[in-house]
Amino acid sequence: MSVTVRVPAKVNVQLAVGPARPDGFHDLANVFLAVGLYDEVTVTPSPGGLRVTCDGPDAGQVPLDRTNLAARAALALAERYGRTPDVHLHIAKDIPVAGGMAGGSADGAGALLACDALWRTGASREELLDICAELGSDVPFSFVGGAALGTGRGEKLQPLEVGGAFHWVFAMAGRGLSTPAVFREFDRLGEGTNIPAPVASQELLDALAKGDPDALAATVSNDLQPAALSLFPELAGTLAAGRAAGALAALVSGSGPTTAFLARDPESAAAVAGALRTSGTCRSVRTATGPAPGATVIRNDRSQ
Ligand code: C5P
Repeated sequence: MSVTVRVPAKVNVQLAVGPARPDGFHDLANVFLAVGLYDEVTVTPSPGGLRVTCDGPDAGQVPLDRTNLAARAALALAERYGRTPDVHLHIAKDIPVAGGMAGGSADGAGALLACDALWRTGASREELLDICAELGSDVPFSFVGGAALGTGRGEKLQPLEVGGAFHWVFAMAGRGLSTPAVFREFDRLGEGTNIPAPVASQELLDALAKGDPDALAATVSNDLQPAALSLFPELAGTLAAGRAAGALAALVSGSGPTTAFLARDPESAAAVAGALRTSGTCRSVRTATGPAPGATVIRNDRSQ
């Protein structure tokens, strides 16, 4: 008996960050776009108790204890619906780890939907989204996918219209960056300045709605980029290599260190990817299009 859920990575086409709040989080205007790089989470009953395994190129960097968001999702759902969390969660990991593409959040959203299907809790979508928000700021978006504006700490979502497929290239870096460390660096760099409340760009929302890559390229922004570059200066070389290869826009994805390059069409994306691969400025390169669907059950033996 098992259930498998597929969950996408994300790129932030706008990440506007406000000042630190009293709770340590930052208010955001966070325009998420799900892209077609996926983790798959499979849940099976495990009489020996909760355990997590992982395979994939970055599997060695994934924590397999209860700090893993997949394990935390299973525990939270079990507690709320009176189930025993005796499950084996296996993560087939294709999303870069500690990369700013919400790979950990994807596993949390995936495990939640998989356990919900296995245990038949009867939870509503709103109840599942509440648990997602408790697990982490990006987890609700991993669950819903598509494109959305996230406000609050990023967990309050408003779905966005997208008028076409956008073609992306992602360059994975040689090491990860910790999200809290990048936000701390944002605070340090902003000390003594007046940081305005974050606002979504109407031009950017219009560009998404039109499916216009040139207009989107002209409006993408990431307020965390200076902080990510400050902690990881070599990323400037990766951004420059992608721009030189014809990317319409080059930016750090979320808190980084993955860098994201918007291309006009699949051919241009392949050319940018090829140039980045030989640039010596990154560890690996992937192409993907967005928007992509959110967490989706792709196999369910439980329903037989
Ligand atoms: O919510 P999540 O656990 O993903 O957040 C990880 C860390 O990122 C937080 O502990 C905080 O340091 C930082 N963060 C933030 N403001 C947000 C989201 C995350 O400062 N809106």
